[in-house]
Amino acid sequence: MSDLPKIIQGGMGVAISNWRLAQTVARLGQLGVVSGTALDQVLARRLEDGDPGGHMRRAFDAFPFRVMAERVWNTYFIPGGKAPETSYTRLPTHGKACPRPLAEIGIIANFVEVFLAREGHSNPVGINYLEKIQTPHLVAIYGAMLAGVGFVLMGAGIPLKIPGVLDAYVNHQPASYPLYVVGAQEGDDTTMHFTPRDFMEGDLPPLTRPRFLPIIASNTLAVTMLKKANGKVDGFIIEGPTAGGHNAPPRGKLTLNELGEPVYGDRDRVDLEKMRELGVPFWLAGGYGGADALQQALDAGAAGVQVGTAFGYCEESGLRADYKQALLDQVVRGEARVFTDPVASPSGFPFKVVQLGGTMSDEEVYLDRPRICDLGYLREAYRTPGGEVGFRCSSEPVSIYLSKGGAEANTVGRKCICNALVATAGAPQTRAKGRIVEAGIVTSGDDLTGIARFMRPGSTSYTAADVIRVLLNTGSGVTQD
Ligand SMILES: Cc1cc2nc3c(=O)[nH]c(=O)nc-3n(C[C@H](O)[C@H](O)[C@H](O)COP(=O)(O)O)c2cc1C
Repeated sequence: MSDLPKIIQGGMGVAISNWRLAQTVARLGQLGVVSGTALDQVLARRLEDGDPGGHMRRAFDAFPFRVMAERVWNTYFIPGGKAPETSYTRLPTHGKACPRPLAEIGIIANFVEVFLAREGHSNPVGINYLEKIQTPHLVAIYGAMLAGVGFVLMGAGIPLKIPGVLDAYVNHQPASYPLYVVGAQEGDDTTMHFTPRDFMEGDLPPLTRPRFLPIIASNTLAVTMLKKANGKVDGFIIEGPTAGGHNAPPRGKLTLNELGEPVYGDRDRVDLEKMRELGVPFWLAGGYGGADALQQALDAGAAGVQVGTAFGYCEESGLRADYKQALLDQVVRGEARVFTDPVASPSGFPFKVVQLGGTMSDEEVYLDRPRICDLGYLREAYRTPGGEVGFRCSSEPVSIYLSKGGAEANTVGRKCICNALVATAGAPQTRAKGRIVEAGIVTSGDDLTGIARFMRPGSTSYTAADVIRVLLNTGSGVTQD
């Protein structure tokens, strides 16, 4: 790969852009990015499923802290996998302080995903996090850096303090991160801390500082990041509102179209002339999954594009097979539909939801599910009346949320996308001895309706190489970069 990739395969959580997809893209000479969201949970479930293929074991064997690796392995691994009616183990939820067992599996999970994505080639790979999911950051980034991650990409927030964390970890120094706490008062202690030496089992050489690419949707945010971040910002991903996953909310007062989706306008457009003036590389995201779109981006001064949707449905992605095939069939029949849901995600950001029977997009499936919050990644931190840091989620049982000072209006239409997204990656929680199985939720960009363009004639699926071939207008999908 030349110094900067033309194509970034965007991070897609939970485990849609898994190590397998990112490794494939990286081998093809572009930037493969693993999702860093909820990796502790993903790893625990892979181990409880018996580690099919033995990939986790291979990565555990490469982890530098041997005692810790075996402790985590022995805690979760079930030879042959758990019985289908048995529930997966519930990990402790994240808080301001990270309990040691959670920190250990978090460090290893991030290491494993990056290690496997980097296996067998020498191109860089990236990891994607959502700034809004703050509590796992310090542990997760250290694990990813231990595995030599080349890029950290972060969306859904203003990650001013991440560069300082990356710099500290180069020499295994302690790092801290401010937790956003609703209602926090002057003098409250809201800073999270992590000390690598508490986990290291011997000295290690310095780590490489990954490049840092915030994902932004406005010029103002780009300028703020460059001026106020506590270290180097190496470039930006500029993501528009047609992109899959969470979208930045529209600027100004929220208005909805006749379908109930947020309306975006001129104020939401990023001025690329101004971006060029900043003098740092940038990539465009949101509907850039084609050769013409890539050329337009390059003509506009971008280093390239970040593409999600096209890769999300390719053979190598972690989207579970039954959903993937059903949606590819819908696309071919011209029936695929994506709804930008202004309320589904407890994060408060609009979230794109693919309409698919049997998933949480189905009103009946949603209403049927008792409200349970047992993963808790999207919980918000708030100041309790006693001055402590508490956590609440607008999709937890309404009475509990209200008892924590949450507003009832926030609970309407909220979905447990933590459980649903893990289910979409193929590891749904089962409850009540297997009688209840969590349903998934599929997210995608508006580009979904056009992905049949990647299928070869006579085929009902496509690979990551097909996507890259179409984007670069080449025969094989392999670049000489
Ligand atoms: C299934 C899916 C999951 C996504 N999850 C994330 C995520 O966890 N973090 C993130 O920053 N972006 C996420 N995105 C956005 C992508 O990284 C990328 O920026 C976007 O998909 C580009 O637009 P496109 O969908 O039109 O290609 C996701 C996109 C998809 C399709």
